[in-house]
Amino acid sequence: MDWGMKNRMAQLIQADGHCCFLPVDHGYFQGPTRKLEEPRKTIEPLLPYADALFITRGVLRSSVAPEKTKPIILRVSGGTSIVGKDLAHEGITTSMEEAIRLNVAAVGISIFVGTDYEHESLLNLAKLVDEGEKYGLPVMAVTAVGKELEKRDARYLALCCRIAAELGARLVKTYYCEEFEKVVRGCPVPVVMAGGPQVDTELEVFQFVYDGMQKGAIGVNLGRNIWQNDFPVAMIKAIRAIVHENASPKEAQEIYESIKY
Ligand code: 5RP
Repeated sequence: MDWGMKNRMAQLIQADGHCCFLPVDHGYFQGPTRKLEEPRKTIEPLLPYADALFITRGVLRSSVAPEKTKPIILRVSGGTSIVGKDLAHEGITTSMEEAIRLNVAAVGISIFVGTDYEHESLLNLAKLVDEGEKYGLPVMAVTAVGKELEKRDARYLALCCRIAAELGARLVKTYYCEEFEKVVRGCPVPVVMAGGPQVDTELEVFQFVYDGMQKGAIGVNLGRNIWQNDFPVAMIKAIRAIVHENASPKEAQEIYESIKY
């Protein structure tokens, strides 16, 4: 691996081999979604506890101070909306030149395996990898399910993750699921877990993050279950403890309860 690529991967994956990314990119197709209406207000208190931000260029420029930030994973796919015809019909929205100008640590793109736009999104990933490798920029592939949340099972996600790795993604972001070990086993590059829509209790989040880490994920890229919580700072601190200190779900719950504000 070239120096630039190694350096960027090291910015993302911490010395313990784990990572806690904070995604705030949801507006690119959901608009001003709940608790992310004013991105700066959501991001600022959480930033000290995130290892990297997953974000679009518009929100990066408008809502994150360049002087005091964290490594950036730039979302570079989009072009669809929650009210449009098909969420899977994404294209590349941001050039590699722009990513370099913004001095990001990685770029991220969604793939939509099994949809009408499978071929297009996979070729977009492959092209992005070609460009990224030229400049030492890692590509994180996102195994997107659009509105079909029921797709989140090990067989489907293992398929998506493996394809993303085969096409050259340096990191894959996918959902936690039952038999998550099968997803990780079949994916030769590091896997991080997204959370999906907010679940009912904090403990459920701590349990799946813990279980996913035990089964081989290197960390999380967890958004709504952090910033839609009533106590987002307590939530991210508790999740960090699982990811970086191997805290149990019970210990994470205690951390959450003790610092919620
Ligand atoms: C949205 C994304 C998000 O980054 C991803 O889904 C993680 O966020 P959450 O934990 O809220 O699902 O790719 O397009």
